[in-house]
Amino acid sequence: MVEVSMEDVWVEIGGVEVLRGVTIKVEEGASYAIVGRNGAGKTTLLRTLLGILKPSRGRVTARGRGRILDMTRTPPHKLAELGVGYVPQGRMIFPDLTALENLEVAYGGPVPGDTLEWIYTILPELKRFIDRKGMYMSGGEQQIVAVARALVRRPSLIVLDEPLEGLAPRVVKSILDALREIKASGVSILITESGTISRVRGIAENAYGLDRGEIIYSGDLDGLERDPEARRRIWGL
Ligand SMILES: Nc1ncnc2c1ncn2[C@@H]1O[C@H](COP(=O)(O)OP(=O)(O)OP(=O)(O)O)[C@@H](O)[C@H]1O
Ligand SMILES: [Mg+2]
Repeated sequence: MVEVSMEDVWVEIGGVEVLRGVTIKVEEGASYAIVGRNGAGKTTLLRTLLGILKPSRGRVTARGRGRILDMTRTPPHKLAELGVGYVPQGRMIFPDLTALENLEVAYGGPVPGDTLEWIYTILPELKRFIDRKGMYMSGGEQQIVAVARALVRRPSLIVLDEPLEGLAPRVVKSILDALREIKASGVSILITESGTISRVRGIAENAYGLDRGEIIYSGDLDGLERDPEARRRIWGL
């Protein structure tokens, strides 16, 4: 199991403070949605949590497998070793590699047969295009590969950055089904969402509301929808 947290984190990009005093905690065994408008800082928050971006101030800590990592001074792959999978915004799969080759690159060699079988039970459609190159896949198929790639090391937490963005309703449904299946198999989920929270209901039970780089809500997911400050700042209601 793994737990990650940020404490009073500030991140500056090009002279602009994109995260301003963010404190969040992702406890082991629990799932979370980070909800905020476009440009609120969701991707920056995830990238900082994963150790890809370094904050100008604050603490980022990961605990798991008997280790404590200071993610402000640890390369991101160490977090992957602790059991954290990542599905970046925009999917970022290799276009000239097949689906299987994309998984192998992430694993660092042939993916064990039982892991591949487990992935097929979660993403049954993957089987259909496992030997197709990324460049010949639809956006939905690429997203399925991106989710599969985050599962190859059997993580205990998977972090997904707007995995439903720009997908047709049918594909949204199959990704959501897969996420419910992943959760049911004991993997925790941290997901960002810029639209309505109804899509992530059943995926995350906890939420953080993010606006202009500040956490404006922390609590259960349904409470976010009722919170006056969140309603005003996230949805303009
Ligand atoms: N590399 C960068 N260079 C310049 N500005 C950046 C960069 N990355 C992020 N920003 C700025 O930081 C702010 C937060 O960006 P971020 O991508 O974290 O938001 P987001 O909530 O993920 O948005 P979206 O919903 O569009 O993905 C935005 O105002 C964005 O313009
Ligand atoms: Mg983003």
